[in-house]
Amino acid sequence: MSIIIALDGPAASGKGTLARKLASHFNLSLLDTGSLYRAVGWTVLQNKGDPTNQEDALKAARMIENTDLSNPELRSESIASAASKVAAQPAVRQTLVDFQRHFAANPAQGKAGTILDGRDIGTVICPDADAKIFITADVETRAKRRFLEEFGAAGSDKQYQEILHVLKARDNLDTNRAASPLKQAENAYLIDTSNSDIETVFETARKYVSSKM
Ligand code: CDP
Repeated sequence: MSIIIALDGPAASGKGTLARKLASHFNLSLLDTGSLYRAVGWTVLQNKGDPTNQEDALKAARMIENTDLSNPELRSESIASAASKVAAQPAVRQTLVDFQRHFAANPAQGKAGTILDGRDIGTVICPDADAKIFITADVETRAKRRFLEEFGAAGSDKQYQEILHVLKARDNLDTNRAASPLKQAENAYLIDTSNSDIETVFETARKYVSSKM
């Protein structure tokens, strides 16, 4: 019997780090579903298309199996903004549903299960997941983390304000869209990371997941 873990939360809440640590600890296959939407956004921009245009976005979403999800170019905030624009479109989301569900149900050989991180894993993609976590932090803390990731100690206040601004815009779009908005599933376990370090967050999540196994 394999286990499925759903991990959702807003931008820069620490999902990626926690997902990697849980995957390694519990021996799970990991899918960062944000990379799917980032890849779609990236492909649209590569083709000189418009991420808000459904035809452009859908064409890119249909090519997802042939797209390199580990391309480092996907990590920038400009690609994240394009990602949240394609992600607001129901037809794009629908195209990516099967890919995600297939991943969830088919761990790699030798793995004990799967973990998917994103915005709608516990609510839409895997509503029957064995364990659901919703991870969050206040927007200033999240902007500071993303700012340090992108610019390091040499970054300026102007760059921080810019990151804060785009993160707020992305939160707003992700939370208020009609199609699979970002929200905590009713039975998800809430972890606020505003005042916690990675090890504390991991330990809290580890105990919760163990209790569900
Ligand atoms: O890394 P970060 O949390 O900043 O973003 P991400 O998880 O890579 O997701 C990028 C964008 O993709 C988000 O702002 C969402 O608009 C979209 N997304 C989504 O709609 N549903 C998901 N399951 C994952 C990401």
